[in-house]
This record gives sequence, structure tokens and C-alpha cells, in this order.
Amino acid sequence: MHASNVQRKASCFWRFQQSGGSRAIRSAGCLTAERGKGALPVMSRTKLTVGSTQSAANVAIPYDARISVVWKRPSQMIQPSSFYSMWDAVARFAQEIRASDFMAEMIRRRDAYGSEGVMGALDCATLYGLTRWLQPAVVVESGGFIGMSSAFILKALADEQLAAAKLYSVELSEDCQQGALIPEELRASFVPMRGRIEDFLKRDQLPQSIDMFVHDSSHSYRHMLWEFRQFWPRLRDGGLLMSHDVQMNSAFPEFIASTYAHDKKTGRRDAQRTSHYEWGRWGYIGFAVKKANH
Ligand SMILES: C[S@@+](CC[C@H](N)C(=O)[O-])C[C@H]1O[C@@H](n2cnc3c(N)ncnc32)[C@H](O)[C@@H]1O
Repeated sequence: MHASNVQRKASCFWRFQQSGGSRAIRSAGCLTAERGKGALPVMSRTKLTVGSTQSAANVAIPYDARISVVWKRPSQMIQPSSFYSMWDAVARFAQEIRASDFMAEMIRRRDAYGSEGVMGALDCATLYGLTRWLQPAVVVESGGFIGMSSAFILKALADEQLAAAKLYSVELSEDCQQGALIPEELRASFVPMRGRIEDFLKRDQLPQSIDMFVHDSSHSYRHMLWEFRQFWPRLRDGGLLMSHDVQMNSAFPEFIASTYAHDKKTGRRDAQRTSHYEWGRWGYIGFAVKKANH
């Protein structure tokens, strides 16, 4: 999905939240058309009128429940599933790369080099899937090391034909051969940066506006939270924050919790003030799609 598509999705999503009843059809139709399906069949339109939320999710909501969804205030409506299709797309891309010759070749390279400290195959596949889904132009990665994760980001950029995209990959250690595992044909988009990510930020040597940030450097609670807080403001609307090894401590869930806003009286999620569209965890990868609140 191109950056503009994400924004389009986001704005459809917002319009849906602002709308009720019949106006919901227009917004949900926009989401469906955006997925390339064109006009909705008559049956779907009817279903959408009474229970717009189930169309993308393909979940059959009982008729009575659907009615009650429609007549609640927009803020109380069940979330429309504009980002639901993301899960399917990422799973498909991940499955594709796991079965590929590229994966076999990367595992061969990794085993020849030594697998200590590099990202595992499942997480590399998730990283690949998320990158293909987003189609970013500017990616920053902390903890590039010998380049297992970098190779999968670069492969996703290549498979989406994003020749102008760049991966800025920061690695502290002088002792490792940074990016050694990356196949030659993927190196055009690779920008290796040697040093501490803290110093690159201090010297303002990283892009101000980015589409995707991947954390895989020091997994201390303090450092993880620090990186999330540093790079989240640099992400554009619809941009993606990703972190490896989120199981190590509570930094990722705590950061995600800080992006939520709730209605003081009801305690319900306030979708307008909440600053993510979607978040989740797959294996040891955590991710959040940023929503910029204007
Ligand atoms: C788990 S490894 C990264 C593995 C890599 N992503 C891969 O899949 O091949 C973590 C790396 O982060 C680097 N690192 C730790 N703290 C850092 C910092 N403050 N700035 C930049 N790199 C850092 C370490 O030197 C180490 O090589």
C-alpha cells in the first residue's frame, strides 16, 4: 500500500467514525473500492447499512446486535475494520517469503556466518510482510548488525519495486561486519550508519520524517521506551513503528498504552484522540500504525 493509500484509508476510517447510519455506506464503500473490489454487491450494501463493521472482518454479527450498533452514537459504535485486512495481507506476504528460495538462501548465509544475535525466520517473515504492506519510502532501523533483518526489509522494498526507498540502518558495534548477510542485488537501498543511535539523533543525522521505524538494538526497558518515544513523533500518519523482542520487558505494551485515550466518564476508547489505528504482536515482533492527531 502506498503512503497515499494509507492516508486515504485513514481518512475513510475517520469519516466512518464521524458518520452514522446511511452515511456509513459511503465510507465503507470507499474502503472496499480502495481494496480494488469496486462497487459492493446489493446484499453487502444492505448488510452494511445495519452493521457496517462486519463487512471487512467477515464476521457474522447477529441481526439484533447489528441494529444496536447502528443506532448508537458514532463514538460508541464498534470500530470499523479498515485495518482488519492488514492482518490477512501481512500473513499472506509472510507465508510467501517463508516458502521462498530467498528465505532458504538467507538461512544458509546466516548459518554459515553464525546465527547468534540475528532475527529468527518467523520474525523476519513478519518484518517482510509488514514492510510490503506499508510500502515505505524511508525506513530507519536500529541494531542493523550483520543484516538479517535489513535483508528482509530490503527484499520487501525490492518486491514492491520501491527503487527510490531507503533503509537507514544504524549499528553501534565496530566489531561486526555490518550488513554482511545482505545479498548484493539488494544493496542499492541500504544506507549503513555506524555508531550509537543516540548520537545520530543528537547530531540530527537521521531523517525527520519517516514511514517506518524498526527497533532491534539494546533491549533494555529504558532504551526501548526511549527509542519508541524518539521515533514515534517522526512517523507520518499511517506510518509503522516496529520492535523486535517485545517479550523482553514491558516497554512495548507500556508505550502502546500511552497512545490510547479514553472517555473520562465511560472509560471507553476515544478513537479520535487515540494515536494509533492498529497495533499488535506477532511472534516477537510488536507493531503499531500511527495515527496523527491534528
Ligand atoms: C539483536 S542485534 C540486531 C540483529 C539484527 N537486527 C539482525 O537481524 O541481524 C542488536 C544490535 O544492536 C546494536 N546496538 C546496541 N545498542 C545500540 C545503540 N545504542 N545504537 C546502535 N546500535 C546498537 C548491537 O551492537 C547489536 O549488534
